[in-house]
Amino acid sequence: MTAKFVAEVIDSTAVFKETIFDGKVLFCTGGGSGICKRMTEAVMRHGANSVIVGRNLDRLTTSAEELSNATGRTCIPAKADVREPNQLRDAVSKAITKFGRIDFVICGAAGNFLSPISGLSENGFKTVMQIDTMGTFNTIKATVPHLRVTKGAYIHVSATLHYRATPFQAHVSAAKAAVDALSAVLAIEEGPYGIRSNVIAPGPIGGTEGYDRLSASDPHEPEGYVQKVYNRTMPLGRVGHVQDIANAAVFLFSDAANFITGQVLPVDGGNEHLREPFLPYPDCILDSEKAKSLIKPRL
Ligand code: HXC
Repeated sequence: MTAKFVAEVIDSTAVFKETIFDGKVLFCTGGGSGICKRMTEAVMRHGANSVIVGRNLDRLTTSAEELSNATGRTCIPAKADVREPNQLRDAVSKAITKFGRIDFVICGAAGNFLSPISGLSENGFKTVMQIDTMGTFNTIKATVPHLRVTKGAYIHVSATLHYRATPFQAHVSAAKAAVDALSAVLAIEEGPYGIRSNVIAPGPIGGTEGYDRLSASDPHEPEGYVQKVYNRTMPLGRVGHVQDIANAAVFLFSDAANFITGQVLPVDGGNEHLREPFLPYPDCILDSEKAKSLIKPRL
């Protein structure tokens, strides 16, 4: 049998010049960790300075130092909860005071936990809607006047799990569907001002908290249930890497994408076409102890 193909993880600097974002400024919510931190690093490697926004100032400060050291550009932290419009406006003021402009915005701050509707309180549902959907709206409101000046671009970090029903993800599915819709309207309302708006929809990305929480070992399946599922449902031979998402962000912000707006770009190695539930169905619904044994508690 022919060996299975495994897509290489490459760095965007192997494809795009390191100067394409010289003089540009990125404003990234959720940039203190995970996928958004790597997206920020990639955009900085092509010349941009950045502001990363989040709730935990200690983590942001450490990440900003790491990003500055790794790229030779300047990253500053700005503490804000995206549910609070005033805090976001202050973060934007900090960006303008420091850099004088904002060219790119990543709306990436998000909240997630696994819960069936039957176990989800009204406040639990509302919390994720407020972080993901309202947080995106609030970020757009605070930044759009500045992007009109620079004719800038937005990337919203969404998901693929709402394309078909995903158990335990009602709150996130509703929130991300709304983010996709917001981005499309933003694209048509602000296109005439020169602003573009697109969505990146990551599939399963290894090394993220969400992925790691689903990777608890089942004594009967030492490899872990979720790894077994992904072994047979990833056409390009592996789960995603944060760099795959970062590469897509560099492309979408670049002039090579200057006629692309109002789109949703799944970056999932083709997984959506084969996607199976990441927990055994319907066992995970009917046997909550079995489901719990497959999910690691909050990290
Ligand atoms: C049911 C839950 C819950 C859970 C919180 N809630 N966790 N309900 N199951 N596991 C409910 C609470 O009971 C509360 O409702 C309401 O949500 C608000 O919770 P708080 O803790 O007060 O909110 P807050 O401090 O603002 O935290 C927001 C958060 C939290 C989204 C709940 O998880 C967070 O800050 N996350 C950020 C980091 C993150 O989510 N990373 C992504 C990990 S991905 P009541 O009614 O009690 O007041 C992941 C799995 C991904 O974990 C799977 C992907 C497919």
